[in-house]
Amino acid sequence: MPSPSAPAISPWQAFDGTRRSGRTRDLLSLGDFEAAARRVLPRPIFGYIAGAAEDNRALAGNRQAFDELALVPRVLRNVAQRDQGVTLFGTRYASPFGIAPMGITALSAYRGDVVLARAAAAAGIPAVQSGSSLIRLEEVMAAAPGTWFQAYLPGAPERIEALLQRVAAAGVQTLVVTVDIPVAGNRENNLRAGFSTPLRPSLRLAWDGLVRPRWLAGTLLRTLVRHGMPHFENSFAERGAPILSSRVQRDFSGRDHLDWGHIAQIRRQWRGALVVKGILSPHDAALARQHGVDGIVVSNHGGRQLDGAVAPLRVLPAIAEQAGSAMVVMLDGGISRGTDVAKALALGAQAVFAGRPFNYAAAVDGEAGVAAAIGLLRAEVDRNLALLGVCSCAELGPQHLVDRRTPWPLALQPAGSNHPL
Ligand code: GLV
Repeated sequence: MPSPSAPAISPWQAFDGTRRSGRTRDLLSLGDFEAAARRVLPRPIFGYIAGAAEDNRALAGNRQAFDELALVPRVLRNVAQRDQGVTLFGTRYASPFGIAPMGITALSAYRGDVVLARAAAAAGIPAVQSGSSLIRLEEVMAAAPGTWFQAYLPGAPERIEALLQRVAAAGVQTLVVTVDIPVAGNRENNLRAGFSTPLRPSLRLAWDGLVRPRWLAGTLLRTLVRHGMPHFENSFAERGAPILSSRVQRDFSGRDHLDWGHIAQIRRQWRGALVVKGILSPHDAALARQHGVDGIVVSNHGGRQLDGAVAPLRVLPAIAEQAGSAMVVMLDGGISRGTDVAKALALGAQAVFAGRPFNYAAAVDGEAGVAAAIGLLRAEVDRNLALLGVCSCAELGPQHLVDRRTPWPLALQPAGSNHPL
């Protein structure tokens, strides 16, 4: 992977200035992509992306945690030479954010996994292909060789080994193992929106597709004609279930008996960088470190697994302390602004991942849409570094944050102190 450097961005530009097609010209923030995607995607597919588990409490909690923090800028610090780049597992990335793994993106955008991976590679940020994806990992790796791969572990050790061999043979260097899925989350929202995997053919489903003609022709029919019926290609070493079927059941077997012994097995077999995703307890962060894991993603799966699970941002400082310098600490869940990125970095993350906004961007305008969304977030991060009075992500720290509800005034701390204000 080359070492892209961040492009120069004028702080006065409303956005990054990359050329936009008509479809994204009026979208000025990542949040704008959601409404645009709702107009493009069939109801069950939009519902699958947007929804979370049960009452969406964990989803809402992720946003609340960011909103409870206020930023404390420093001024007159000569911030002319800014570089938002970060180094993760020996690779220099141009921005401190990446694209989180998301299932079935080839159903929300034509060749979705390839689109996301290519846009990320072109912008010099990491993208993680989901194990619940519909395009073979080998194809994605050929299109965007630096892409990370996220695995859902099959239960049996020999199936884990076969999957790892396949992933290594495809050229993956960074493996992300998601561990917050002993059982499937309670996705009532999916059922209400008419979504399941596989999708069950019905008149309602047909109608949901027919009223989204651009998606029907440009994503579904184009995929069926050129590539045949999509299947879950990367859950195991071998092909999984088709995306549309009245009878087939997906195989989630054995995930509930996974334990740290399986991580030990993977660590013995996997030579590349190993990331464990779905950590919310400092105790589990310590166990990950003891098992030789290279990085963790502090995550509640975008609120899609345990409803009411704590927001990753709230546990980040305690987890970063456990990780020390032994593991790279990353976070996902609720990131939609440059200020969110800054808050997570200030609390100890080295990088963050955003999912839904990039999925919406792919649905709205394919690779150009994702490039536009990356450009917007990159410009926000650059602007926020300048406004906070720092030139690099590493300079962000707890001194830049205060609880929004803290009564003021706060005492002045000695210069250079790491305490708020
Ligand atoms: C897949 O990981 C999902 O959360 O739907």
